[in-house]
Amino acid sequence: MLINLIRVYLVCVVARAEVIRISKIWEYLQKPGEHLHVNRRTTAHRILDLGYPCEEHEVHTEDGYILTIFRITNSPIELESSPRANKPKVFLQHPLFGTSDTWILNGPQHSLPFLLADRGYDVWLGNSRGNLYGRKHRNLTIHDTDFWRFSWHEIGYYDMASMLDYVIKNETINSKQRSLHFIGHSQGTTASMVLLSLRTEYQQLLRIVHLMAPAVYLDNTEDRLLQALSSYLGYHNLLSQQFSHQEFIPHNELFNILLYTACQQDLIWQGFCSPMAFMMEGSLRNKNLTALQICLETHPGGVSTNQLLHFMQVKHSSKFRQFDFGSHENRLRYNQRHPPEYPLEMIDVPLHIWYGEGDRTVNPIDIRRLAATISDVQLHRVPDRNWSHGDFIISRNVREYVYEPLIDILDEYEANT
Ligand SMILES: *[C@@H]1O[C@H](CO)[C@@H](O)[C@H](O)[C@H]1NC(C)=O
Ligand SMILES: *[C@@H]1O[C@H](CO)[C@@H](O)[C@H](O)[C@H]1NC(C)=O
Ligand SMILES: *[C@@H]1O[C@H](CO)[C@@H](O)[C@H](O)[C@H]1NC(C)=O
Ligand SMILES: *[C@@H]1O[C@H](CO)[C@@H](O)[C@H](O)[C@H]1NC(C)=O
Repeated sequence: MLINLIRVYLVCVVARAEVIRISKIWEYLQKPGEHLHVNRRTTAHRILDLGYPCEEHEVHTEDGYILTIFRITNSPIELESSPRANKPKVFLQHPLFGTSDTWILNGPQHSLPFLLADRGYDVWLGNSRGNLYGRKHRNLTIHDTDFWRFSWHEIGYYDMASMLDYVIKNETINSKQRSLHFIGHSQGTTASMVLLSLRTEYQQLLRIVHLMAPAVYLDNTEDRLLQALSSYLGYHNLLSQQFSHQEFIPHNELFNILLYTACQQDLIWQGFCSPMAFMMEGSLRNKNLTALQICLETHPGGVSTNQLLHFMQVKHSSKFRQFDFGSHENRLRYNQRHPPEYPLEMIDVPLHIWYGEGDRTVNPIDIRRLAATISDVQLHRVPDRNWSHGDFIISRNVREYVYEPLIDILDEYEANT
């Protein structure tokens, strides 16, 4: 019900922009199947087009999901100099509504995966269940309600665990590494906190963990969706039940065309008409507008409504805790009325947090609260007072302010071990 209202609202927003290409829509409605996921260029295609080699791998999770992840094994720039012999592995995990495509929006000179490959790292780009590369399951299809019964809890607990296991095991002749570096943005960091606090054995697999704009505490968020809906949906009730266990916005080309057509007209619309609104947050002056266009064409990547509900619960309860299924089911699952908090104090790996003073999704106050609960943590404030949530991906200055210093930290670690 509510989800339909939101869908209708989005379509109205788009329609009011009066830019819908009627003939295109007619064409799509005639042959819907043909336009869903067909002719879609994957992350691998995009990376190959930009002149880097890319491998595709399939990871099976313990609970049956099948995820496609990508790997950049080397770089043309690195091969010109002297390639590193025993390449350290780096694993990157994308934000909410994102996919492995998110990381490469800024092109070869300004995106983290390419810069890492240039500096001799073996780069892996993860994907979580429900997104474009995570829509397969051993026994379920995306049309089954059971497929969508997950939040970022399962993404951390199962997907990340299986992906990290796979990446470690998948050795090649010049790469024998028993641990790796982890880099996450936003929800990618949320999932990593779930994994590292509940399955502490995974801490041994990680050398350095970099968290960009970690979404763990959200008390002071100014994200429109969270602010508007948390008091209604941020706990178990009839309304939130209506909203749960389904795909938030079905990923299809038609929907993307609608959003994209509306959004490209006028940048002012973009903040309203895309779930990628956080990419547009803050001043547009420092954003890479070419990358932003690519972002709108290729995103959103597909999420379960439970992911949003779980974030709303975090905001509403002011606690970083497991999914609230209501007191009855909570008792069965957790043996207590309220969901248990994630034991963040169990996390003991070298952790670097990167944050911006202008981040309205994850407020610096909430970042400092997180930092205070973790033992081994270093805080890096981006030296731009306007730095916002999406700038970690889409800013024209992200290479200088974040990626270069971040890779320096990895290099220093590698040089000393
Ligand atoms: C902006 O993005 C485009 C498209 O990916 C890329 O070619 C360009 O180098 C980027 N520029 C900056 C400054 O990030
Ligand atoms: C899913 O498939 C596996 C193997 O094909 C089977 O062992 C398992 O029982 C199935 N699970 C369900 C819930 O159907
Ligand atoms: C590593 O990746 C290759 C290529 O996809 C695959 O054939 C192989 O089975 C993988 N190895 C392991 C141990 O998963
Ligand atoms: C931050 O944004 C404001 C308003 O857009 C602008 O006036 C100011 O110059 C910006 N500051 C920096 C350091 O870019």
